[in-house]
Amino acid sequence: MCASRLTMRRVKKETLEVVEKAKPKRKRQKTHKDDEPSGAVLRSAYHTFCEPADVGHLRTRLLSWYDLEKRELPWRTLALIEPDVNIRTYAVWVSEIMLQQTQVATVIDYYTKWMKRWPTVSDLSAATLEEVNQMWAGLGYYSRGKRLHEGAQKVVSKLDGQMPDTVDELLRQLPGVGRYTAAAIGSIALGQVTGAVDGNVIRVLCRMRAIGADCTSPAVTEALWTLANALVDPKRPGDFNQAMMELGARVCTPKGPLCEQCPVRSQCHSYRKVQSKREQNSKRLLVENDMKPPALPDIEDCSASGTCPLCAPEPWDEELGAQNFPRKPAKKPPRVERTLTCVLTRRGEGGEDEFLLMQRPNKGLLAGLWEFPSLVLEKEDKSEKKHKMALCVHLDKHLDAPLTQSSLHYVGEVVHIFSHIRQTYVVHTLHLGDAEAPLRTGNVRWVSRAALREAAVSTGVKKILKLCDSARLQKEQNSPDAKRQKDDDKKRPRSAKKAKMKASVGSNKQLSLTSFFRTTKQETC
Ligand code: ADE
Repeated sequence: MCASRLTMRRVKKETLEVVEKAKPKRKRQKTHKDDEPSGAVLRSAYHTFCEPADVGHLRTRLLSWYDLEKRELPWRTLALIEPDVNIRTYAVWVSEIMLQQTQVATVIDYYTKWMKRWPTVSDLSAATLEEVNQMWAGLGYYSRGKRLHEGAQKVVSKLDGQMPDTVDELLRQLPGVGRYTAAAIGSIALGQVTGAVDGNVIRVLCRMRAIGADCTSPAVTEALWTLANALVDPKRPGDFNQAMMELGARVCTPKGPLCEQCPVRSQCHSYRKVQSKREQNSKRLLVENDMKPPALPDIEDCSASGTCPLCAPEPWDEELGAQNFPRKPAKKPPRVERTLTCVLTRRGEGGEDEFLLMQRPNKGLLAGLWEFPSLVLEKEDKSEKKHKMALCVHLDKHLDAPLTQSSLHYVGEVVHIFSHIRQTYVVHTLHLGDAEAPLRTGNVRWVSRAALREAAVSTGVKKILKLCDSARLQKEQNSPDAKRQKDDDKKRPRSAKKAKMKASVGSNKQLSLTSFFRTTKQETC
């Protein structure tokens, strides 16, 4: 019997779950394709593995490669050595949530710090959301941290501190856990036999089985899950799924796949297609000028060609090779937004500057994070004078301070790209000197630079601060005092200059503060 009959019945679309969860639920109109059971979608042998021997061969080759080549990652080690299933499940859950939309290399440090601070689900449940946001700062998609925190509190308060122990229960009980995440946790931490289809696996399977229809369509999604469930090794489901992900991340890459290093290339339709086209072309070169060789038909193609819901709608593009697959729908351009923002400072008690931060609402984009006071601009709002007036009115609501439009200075713009918004911050500064500036509302606070560095702020805030720091540095360098100093330096002998440089590096005062922000990326986009 064809292995594709093994179908996981539970249907909860999820491949892009982080994005998907943010969308309002809409009733989906049934199309002809949706009505087909997934077994029917995989009717064509071309898009599946019908021979058990092929499945066995693929498992063996892939797992042998994984055993030799896999990266040692902290969550993999934990999943292997942690004997307590509750801790193991929690640890894999944290890793899978962090890995949604974020690269492995970035996740490693965050994960290690997180697990050190909150090694169990009950440790996490006892944390505050503020602490979680602080820990998550810089990782992006902040609702993920919030959901982990909510989930931990639910496990402790409703499930007696016990993590769900099946794929179905993980899916049912944990916020932010969709079909893929439940399958990944279930197979890696609990040894449940289920495939797990994430972005990397989509690419591997689409290339291997020449699935060229829109990979986000319900027909392709179901076909891929059916395939993954049929292929997963029942003896090592977690390793098998991670091996598929590893192959997608390191060999079967989106651009420039390393097909010659692929352990399962002998079973890859795309690889074979590239090879056979190459052979045809070299034969053609050997044939004399105007004698065209007969076009070779593809040995195996989809027999249902023309009507198959998994086949590519367009012909194979030779230049793209394996990159013909997978095919995604065109991305919607991001919404364009402009936001006025003000870096408002005062001199604190110790003489160091303090910054005014305002907390965002608990729902929506960057929920609960702290930022410089900001106002989203209407499209037609262009004049700087109007901007300054609006900022003064906004600030006055939160702060009892001598604010005037003339003390606001325009600094420049910072672009920050969110998944669906192209945000431009129009940055101003205002320094209040020694003014006390008492707060009028509860969602604002004064923080030192050191506290700002530790606070739960987004990358956008760091970029804005970096812009202000470099503007201030430039201003200081162009000041008459600095120019005089430069002229004096030019006149001084070389040995004296060297000694002065050493002293400034060693003193480590202003330098260490500004250098921290200098390490972040350029603020273009
Ligand atoms: N992406 C999602 N889960 C992963 C895992 N366990 N290892 C590597 N990359 C992943």
